[in-house]
Amino acid sequence: MLETTAPAPPDAILGLTEAYKADPDPRKINLGVGVYKDAAGKTPVLDAVKGAEHHLLGAQTSKSYMPIDGAPAYGKAVRQLMFGADSPAIAQGRAATANTPGGTGALRIAGEYLRKNHPEATIRMSEPTWANHPAIFEAAGVPIKTYPYFDKATNGLAFDAMLGALRQVPGGDVVLLHGCCHNPTGVDPTAEQWQTIAEVLAERDVLPLIDFAYQGFAEGLDEDAAGLRAVMGKCDEVLICSSFSKNFGLYCDRVGALTVVTGSVEITAAVHSQVKAAIRRVYSNPPAHGAAIVSTILEDPALTEQWKGELATMRDRINSMRTLFTTKLDDRGVRLSPDGNGFIARQRGMFSFSGLNKDQVAKLRDEHSIYIVGSGRINVAGITADNVDHLCDAIAEVTR
Ligand code: LMR
Repeated sequence: MLETTAPAPPDAILGLTEAYKADPDPRKINLGVGVYKDAAGKTPVLDAVKGAEHHLLGAQTSKSYMPIDGAPAYGKAVRQLMFGADSPAIAQGRAATANTPGGTGALRIAGEYLRKNHPEATIRMSEPTWANHPAIFEAAGVPIKTYPYFDKATNGLAFDAMLGALRQVPGGDVVLLHGCCHNPTGVDPTAEQWQTIAEVLAERDVLPLIDFAYQGFAEGLDEDAAGLRAVMGKCDEVLICSSFSKNFGLYCDRVGALTVVTGSVEITAAVHSQVKAAIRRVYSNPPAHGAAIVSTILEDPALTEQWKGELATMRDRINSMRTLFTTKLDDRGVRLSPDGNGFIARQRGMFSFSGLNKDQVAKLRDEHSIYIVGSGRINVAGITADNVDHLCDAIAEVTR
């Protein structure tokens, strides 16, 4: 029977890393998957993480199962980091968190929860969105629709079109938003625009589901949570799928969370119980190590300060690479939009939505061994002083 299985196509993002590894060209550059690299092109283990691991190694006394929703200390740390210490939802006990394997695990469990408990709900995603979003919710059996988000003419937010679409969403549907550092465009609403979005979501009585995977990569931990906190200020009910892959560099430890916020302690407890039931059906209970690293760091003031410093270093390096990339393109007379390349510096987080088309992306790969996502998304965090010239020479050639 198994011989009838058709091979799956390579993954749009992780498949690029496989192709990159197999490429013998010494000039090759992988700007596909959203992974931070330092100036030497390495993805380091943060010193704060090493410090926490050192502590955990001596302190761990058992490898028994975790609770279905993970350790309570982890959930508390996640909520405080996202909502701020003075959050009413925390004070009133209206938020509950399940530790999930990465942000992807959180999204899939949110999908399982929605299909079983709210089968009539459609999820609305930005156009474009992270390539895995539709796949995850389709696999969970949740109907999907899109709303406009990106304005190709300005390389900015299509705010009016987005609001117009959100004003038409029927109550009871789910609206998926990127908390910050929109993936793939790098285009985020301003704080003022978030307030308006939050008002519309509340008016429509839709359920916001916020994918929050890059806290600290745009401006800072609190600044990057402003959108999420604006939505929580207007909407009683919010689901948040968060990840520590990027801001703690814990990619392979798979550390994420699904946090439920509702208007009452009782409703939160009921929803969280359904989240736990979904987790039990899918992976039973979470891996312990990465979450223990995060809570160890966030419970220790010295480790927290060290981590914040390392996070700022990553953010600053990405921003300096945005500037360098723009300058090097300008030097070569390359204009990635009719208004020039200024949009690259305005985009936030790891990615730049370059405007390169599918043919140009294919030429970059086939003729220059440069791997970027088919949508034209470039991982700016993978640019270094050593590879930027080859990158910009190649872009100059494919856009000529
Ligand atoms: C990305 O968008 O590159 C990251 O979120 C990694 C992934 O799993 O796709």
